[in-house]
Amino acid sequence: MEVTTEMDGVLHVAVAGRTLAVVERDGTHDQATGRALTGSWLWESSLVLASHLADDARLHLRGATVLEVGAGTGLPGIAAVACLGAARCVLTDGRPLLPGLRANADANGLTAEEADVRELRWGEQLEPEVQVDVVLMSDVFYDPDDMPVMAATLHGLWRDGDGGTVGWAASEVRDGVQDCIDVLREHGFEVAEVERVTRPLLRDSEETAAFAVYRLQRRQLQPGVDLTL
Ligand SMILES: C[S@@+](CC[C@H](N)C(=O)[O-])C[C@H]1O[C@@H](n2cnc3c(N)ncnc32)[C@H](O)[C@@H]1O
Repeated sequence: MEVTTEMDGVLHVAVAGRTLAVVERDGTHDQATGRALTGSWLWESSLVLASHLADDARLHLRGATVLEVGAGTGLPGIAAVACLGAARCVLTDGRPLLPGLRANADANGLTAEEADVRELRWGEQLEPEVQVDVVLMSDVFYDPDDMPVMAATLHGLWRDGDGGTVGWAASEVRDGVQDCIDVLREHGFEVAEVERVTRPLLRDSEETAAFAVYRLQRRQLQPGVDLTL
């Protein structure tokens, strides 16, 4: 997937014949800790996920409502609507990242109806509820301790059965990812690796890293199983 950076610092990402703009907001910090928030920047996994959606998962997107968790700059969700036929995306993250998500949706011509930007911390439920067809996750598998609350959020919005919810996630292949996947499996999700690619790093094109794409489905719940935290 081709990415170019303009003088103004905006990244331009080509997806399915259209070029999307991604604005990174270096100055977005956590007010409590003063630390820069990781979601201020575009991570390579989101390029890998957008590329997978364009090449292999497009069928699931036509007319779909897509929800992205830990969206950061929101590329996969925005690409799903702007380039790949989804009807609507709900872009979610922590509150400080929401103005950047809105700005990126606007920069790519998505209306408030097409890109619904909302706060959603893992462990919380999406309010008001939305019928979610596709869940997208890019580079959110790094801390296994986060996964039980992430699973609780996913259970709250997942629909089972034919035409039910399907999830796609991408991650750099690094320490901790498999542990995260194992925890999600313990909490009721089937997670299958469907693609592995090696690509240059955005900020150091001399270096490459491996990335994996996963498909998530919810296991049929046995009656009486309680998944609350
Ligand atoms: C490594 S960044 C990836 C950002 C973006 N998805 C990408 O690939 O470019 C991880 C993202 O997860 C979000 N995140 C981390 N913990 C979270 C939590 N407990 N609730 C909601 N979002 C969270 C961060 O704010 C950040 O946007």
